[in-house]
Amino acid sequence: MNASRKKVFSKTVSREPDRRERSIAVVTGGAGGIGAIICQALAREGMIVVVGYNRSAKKAQELAASLPGDGHVALSAPVTDSAALVKFAAEISARYGACDALVNCAGVTRFVPHGDLDALDDALIDNILSTNVRGPFAAVRALRPLLDKSKHPGGAVIVNISSIAGLTAMGSNVMYCASKAAVDNLTKSLARALAPKIRVVSIAPGVVDNDFIRSMDSRWLEEQIGRTPLKRLAAPGEVASAVIAAIKHLTFTTGAIIAVDGGRPLS
Ligand SMILES: NC(=O)c1ccc[n+]([C@@H]2O[C@H](COP(=O)([O-])OP(=O)(O)OC[C@H]3O[C@@H](n4cnc5c(N)ncnc54)[C@H](OP(=O)(O)O)[C@@H]3O)[C@@H](O)[C@H]2O)c1
Repeated sequence: MNASRKKVFSKTVSREPDRRERSIAVVTGGAGGIGAIICQALAREGMIVVVGYNRSAKKAQELAASLPGDGHVALSAPVTDSAALVKFAAEISARYGACDALVNCAGVTRFVPHGDLDALDDALIDNILSTNVRGPFAAVRALRPLLDKSKHPGGAVIVNISSIAGLTAMGSNVMYCASKAAVDNLTKSLARALAPKIRVVSIAPGVVDNDFIRSMDSRWLEEQIGRTPLKRLAAPGEVASAVIAAIKHLTFTTGAIIAVDGGRPLS
């Protein structure tokens, strides 16, 4: 195991971990809008961050280099390519020897009105399902041996970034909503299957304030805000805080779907 690997998790369990070791957190889609904010939050918590990327190699490398602390790296992690994920896991094993937290943040979608069934063509459906559903499962499958080796108090943690669309069936298109419902279901099955060594949690954001969302039709955006009891969009930092809570503080939580949605399903 790499000597620089040091643990920082501590507060919520009785056994005091060895503070000379830092934890290893892996984020798929790590260079994306929400993924980058999650990577920054994990690094601020003292973890070594593996920024997984698909097409955004340069962005991921720049992000890894900019994170506070040392030991971070950007690695190719195309979640639709299981063979590449095996190489990804082997590289993490060689560098760090284990993985303490896996955040499945990679995801795709495109806006298609729910009534326009012809516009939701098979290529888009396959892309959404292979990335958003098979992708997180494949990442868990590839990294499981490394998650099993975690000495994180309470076990290693998998955080799946789903969406409130999985619950409300309101979102960018019908298949995106179904894909996020499937992610929440995976969270429950895997939580049962991988316990007690590994906890599995979904973080389900409402509409998150980022460039993509800001480029949407302003009337649609105002409608989303108007229908949210807290009358605003989620900040990416609020999603990251929920991820940190799931990994670090909610040590008796597994199989749970944690909403970060301003109460959106209530209205
Ligand atoms: N934005 C929202 O309002 C919102 C709300 C609820 C949930 N979410 C979820 O939050 C997650 C991040 O969304 P975002 O808004 O940050 O979107 P984003 O900026 O478009 O980021 C998407 C990320 O997914 C990665 N990705 C796409 N296809 C991939 C593949 N085949 N293999 C590996 N990585 C792949 C991209 O990597 P490359 O750039 O390297 O290709 C990118 O980093 C998604 O799962 C999304 O469904 C978003």
